[in-house]
Parts: sequence; structure tokens; C-alpha cells
Amino acid sequence: MKLLAIVGSPRLKGNTNYLVEQALKEAEKLGVQTAKIVLSQYQVNPCLGHDDCASFDSCRQKDDAGWILDKFCEADGVILATPVYWYNVSAQLKAFIDRNYFLYKHDQKYKARAVGVIVVAEKEGIEDTLHTLKQFIDGSFNVGEDRIFIACGYANKLGEVKNNLPLVEEARKLGRQMVESLKQGS
Ligand SMILES: Cc1cc2nc3c(=O)[nH]c(=O)nc-3n(C[C@H](O)[C@H](O)[C@H](O)COP(=O)(O)O)c2cc1C
Repeated sequence: MKLLAIVGSPRLKGNTNYLVEQALKEAEKLGVQTAKIVLSQYQVNPCLGHDDCASFDSCRQKDDAGWILDKFCEADGVILATPVYWYNVSAQLKAFIDRNYFLYKHDQKYKARAVGVIVVAEKEGIEDTLHTLKQFIDGSFNVGEDRIFIACGYANKLGEVKNNLPLVEEARKLGRQMVESLKQGS
């Protein structure tokens, strides 16, 4: 069983990354194989918008999105994690979400049967960000509300989230719940 986290924060020692690590550690304790991809460490270009994906066998963009999307499609569970940037997901995560359009146009199925969402803001914009992520999840994954797990809350300075113990616990719980959900089968 594989759980893959896609991280939209460029701050490796930042709040989003910390919460993702907490969630993945809990999942590992329950025997699940985990992986984390921090998008800023790779080249994931924005969608070119030609809207002609269906006529090509592979995306016109030649960057890291191809193999990341392969892993994303094959994972049993995925976590989408982002800081709030201007009331929405970070540009890194938005570029990745847009690049899923190629798969959408090829009617590609995603294997994941549980989806986690981790969102951190300084003070506002979480609801708007969750709305964007929910739209993407609903349009891409065949999962009901009971298989979408959310951990969101507030922190700002680098690593400050470590002091937000309820949020840290929420992230750990998200990791456990995703594994439990996956073990229940589809
Ligand atoms: C470009 C940018 C835009 C931001 N926009 C918002 C925002 O709209 N609302 C908010 O509450 N915090 C906003 N923040 C603050 C971050 O969400 C906050 O610092 C968060 O903890 C960063 O997470 P990270 O440590 O994982 O990078 C913004 C930060 C940056 C750099």
C-alpha cells in the first residue's frame, strides 16, 4: 500500500512540510509505504493551455510533471498539502493541479481511494483554498466525502506550526485515518 504526499510549499522546514511529515510518520507506523514530493524541488511548468491534449500521447511540456503524475495516479492514497497564498493554493501546487488536465483529457483513472488535504495559513483564506482543492478532488478522484481527510489551521513563521499542537495532532490523525480507510478496501 502506497501513500504519496504532494507538497506545495517551497519552505522545506516550513509548516506544511512539517505537518505532512507528521501524517506520513503515523501512516508508516501502521505499515504503509510513504513518499513525499516537494514540488519546488522539481520542474513543474504551468499548463500551456492549447487544450489539444487528447491529440497527443504525452504532454507537450517536457519536465518532471510526467513522472510525478505517474506516481500520483498509481498511489493508493494521496495527500495534497499547501500553504495559503493569496486565499488559494500555492503557485507550485496550482501548476501541478493544472497539469492533471492532460490526464483528464485522456480519461485517465486515479487509483487513490483516500485523499488527504493539509492547508496552513497565517490568518485567513483556508475556506477558499479548501474549495479549490475540493473541486479538483471531486473532478479527479472516485472518492466519497468519507474518504477525504482534512487537516487545516494557522501558523506563519518558519516551523511555528510545531507550537500549534491541535493542528499537529490533526495531521497525525489524518495519516492514521487514511490508512484505516485504505485497509477497509474500496
Ligand atoms: C505569497 C504568500 C501569500 C500568502 N497569502 C496568505 C493568505 O492569503 N492568507 C494567509 O492567512 N496567509 C498567507 N500567507 C502566509 C502563509 O500561508 C503562512 O506563512 C504559512 O504558514 C506558510 O506555510 P509554509 O511554512 O509551509 O510555507 C502567504 C504567504 C506568502 C509567502
